[in-house]
Amino acid sequence: MSSEQLILGETDGHVGIVRLNRPKVLNALNPELIGQLANQLEEWDKDPNIHVMLITGNEKAFAAGADIGDMADRSLLEMYDRDQFAVWERIVKIKKPIVAAASGFALGGGCELMMMCDIIIAAECAQFGQPEINLGIIPGAGGTQRLTRAVGKAGAMDVILTGRFLSAQEALAAGLVSRVVPDENYFDDALKICHKMAMKGPVALKIGKEAVNKAFETTLGEGVQFERKLFYMLFATDDQKEGMKAFLEKRKAQFIGK
Ligand code: CAA
Repeated sequence: MSSEQLILGETDGHVGIVRLNRPKVLNALNPELIGQLANQLEEWDKDPNIHVMLITGNEKAFAAGADIGDMADRSLLEMYDRDQFAVWERIVKIKKPIVAAASGFALGGGCELMMMCDIIIAAECAQFGQPEINLGIIPGAGGTQRLTRAVGKAGAMDVILTGRFLSAQEALAAGLVSRVVPDENYFDDALKICHKMAMKGPVALKIGKEAVNKAFETTLGEGVQFERKLFYMLFATDDQKEGMKAFLEKRKAQFIGK
C-alpha cells in the first residue's frame, strides 16, 4: 500500500474536508488515491461528529481524469481482473451528503467523481468534460449514465462523442452543477454551504440524499412510495419532534442526530 498522502483530510466542526493531492498531474486519479478517498469518506460516514463532507482539488484542477499513465499499457484481462472502478462504487454508497467544490479541470474520471457527489459548486473558471473519446475509450466510472441523467441525451452525446469541455456557465445551464461562484470564493462558499447543511437534522440529511438518489433507480410511482415510507420513518426520530417543536416555539432547533 502507498504511504503517500494522495488526499489531505481535515475536519472543520461537523464537516469533513478532503483535498485531492496530486497537483503535479492535475490530481489524476490513480487507484491508490481513490482507495484513500473511499477509506476517508467511509470513516467519516461512521463518525457521528461529521454530518457533511466536502471534496475539492486545487484552483487548477478538481481532477483531470483517471491516471492515463497507470492504464496505458494494461491488457483487457489486467483491466478486467483489477476492476478498478469497484473501489469508486464505495463512494456512491456513502450515506452522508457530499459537496464537490470544483475549480479548473473536472474531466473524465474527475467529472465522474464529481457526479458521484450530491451538490456541486463550480468556480467560474471550472471546465467539465468527458474527453475519453480522444484516448480511444469511453468513460468507465459512470460518465455515460450519470452525465446523461444530469444533462439529457443531447448534451451528453455532444460532450462524450466530441470530447468538448463545458464552461461553468454551460454546466450550470445544463443542470450539471448546482451553483457557479467567483473563482476566489469557490472553496469558502462550498464550505459555507456544508456548514449550513451541517446545522440541519443529520438523519434527515442522509434520508433526503437516499430519497433523491432513488429517483435515478426507479419509476415515479415506486419512488413516491419510497419517499413516503422514509417521510413516515422520520417521525420515529427525536430530530423530527425537536424540529417541529422548535418551529412552534419560535426558536432554533437543536438536532441531535437521533
Ligand atoms: N492522467 C495522467 N496524467 C495527467 C492527466 C491524466 N488524466 N491529466 C494531466 N496529467 C498530467 C500531464 O501528463 C502533465 O504531466 P507532466 O507535467 O509530467 O507532463 C501534467 O498533468 C500537467 O498537464 P498538462 O501539461 O497536459 O496541462 P495543460 O494545462 O496543458 O492541459 C489538460 C490540461 C487539458 C487537462 C490535459 O492535461 C489533458 O488533456 N489531460 C487529460 C484529460 C483526460 O483525457 N482525462 C480522461 C482520462 S481517462 C478517464 O478518466 C477514464 C475514466 O472514465 C475513469
